[in-house]
Amino acid sequence: MVNENIIANEQHWDKKNIKDGYTLWFTGLSGSGKSAVAERVAIRLEDEFGESVERLDGDIVRQHLTSDLGFTKEDRDMNIERVSFVAKLLSRNGVAVLASFISPYRERRGKTRDMVTNFIEVFVKCPVEVCEERDVKGLYEKARNGEIKNFTGISDPYEEPEEPEIVLETHKENIEESVQNVIDYLVKEGYIS
Ligand code: ADX
Repeated sequence: MVNENIIANEQHWDKKNIKDGYTLWFTGLSGSGKSAVAERVAIRLEDEFGESVERLDGDIVRQHLTSDLGFTKEDRDMNIERVSFVAKLLSRNGVAVLASFISPYRERRGKTRDMVTNFIEVFVKCPVEVCEERDVKGLYEKARNGEIKNFTGISDPYEEPEEPEIVLETHKENIEESVQNVIDYLVKEGYIS
């Protein structure tokens, strides 16, 4: 039988010869640009820096790992808890993890920070008016009509990060500038060279 502790317990974890990974955690409103920036950063990390990269993205993960969950506070926190566990396993094995989730609750993000290797909080900061104007998936309109309940920024809270490592103002900078800001941070902090 598999001993779950061997998977999860630090005591059994011998990090010899494994370089630390890191977890770029993109948080922000729906439509702020989290996934778009993460996708481009992932490509550059692989192509230009030879990193092993894995992306964890809300829309994808919610079709698989967390398809049983909705958007109450409890469900969102559980969504992030499960994803954080995966990010922990990957990041301690040298993987560059790019996670993009609204992750609206500060306390839950703080727990993730404590769980994973080298948590880098990327606040994708974009006013709700701009996200609503973009309305890429047509969800803001549905939220306004009351077709979707508990919609972040409209009828549900978003708690902004207090001390994020990186802030991307996607309504002021274009996507390549945002991507470059993330790469610059990783270089400056010695994660990549
Ligand atoms: S989180 O709050 O648990 O972190 P997550 O990032 O996984 O959310 O999923 C957000 C995505 O689910 C949004 O981009 C949007 O496409 C979709 N969605 C559906 N209903 C809601 C809702 N009530 N609030 C926010 N996003 C929703």
